[in-house]
Amino acid sequence: MSYDAITVTAITPRIGAEITGLDLTRPLSNHQATELGAALVEHQVLFFRDQALGLESHQALGRHFGALHVHPNVPGPPGYPAVLPIHTDATSRRIAGEAWHSDVSCDEQPPLGSILHLHTVPPIGGDTLFASMFAAYEALSPRMKTYLDGLTATHAGEHVYRSHNERDAVPESGRAYPRAVHPVIRTHPVSKRCALFVNATFTTRINELPADESRAILSYLYEHAARPEFQVRFRWWPNSVAFWDNRSTQHMALWDYFPETRSGFRVTIKGDRPV
Ligand code: SIN
Repeated sequence: MSYDAITVTAITPRIGAEITGLDLTRPLSNHQATELGAALVEHQVLFFRDQALGLESHQALGRHFGALHVHPNVPGPPGYPAVLPIHTDATSRRIAGEAWHSDVSCDEQPPLGSILHLHTVPPIGGDTLFASMFAAYEALSPRMKTYLDGLTATHAGEHVYRSHNERDAVPESGRAYPRAVHPVIRTHPVSKRCALFVNATFTTRINELPADESRAILSYLYEHAARPEFQVRFRWWPNSVAFWDNRSTQHMALWDYFPETRSGFRVTIKGDRPV
């Protein structure tokens, strides 16, 4: 793929590219947005430096790629329901996204992608790891691909969000938690490549298998999906941005910087039902 409105520099052979030549605080032209969308599908996660996004420009950036998603469990700042605060400091009892996951895969229509901007980062540590689920799928044996073809998995939010709310002392009453059934292997709606679509955070069960077999297969798939050669690891600076394709990646945030502060906001774009 060639680009003329943006400069795209791949970081690993399988996943991740740095984008330069773009000011994300200003509205994108249609051509820039089209090329950014194409780079996202090709490289699966895009990284940007020196982008002092405010909440308005952050939301405007997200809207170039679709309607914004409102998180089912975490409210946004006043007036910004579709903005997800990501904040850890010396008083935190947990961080967001510490285990491998694709965002809100428990929704019937999980997000297309997420755009995370951090304005405050620790002097060292706090990296985010991203893994290509295209690469994970493609590296499965032909027999395993055949075995997984047509299977579905349940993705649940309840165990995840209940435990977050308990640790954050957020009242539970009256909450409804999302739950959905998705194919174990999904086809990317744009590239048509196949991606492994189960994750250790939200997936609870492969529906067509006995419970013990489901546990064993999921455990194998989680270990396989986390192989280092499918990954890229992002070192944050203040005002860095990561934009990931949630349909073809998983990610996890490292909490190796306690008691330092790491803070910013995520805007998430609505997606389609996986097929
Ligand atoms: C998330 O899962 O969206 C958080 C990622 C991060 O803080 O690096």
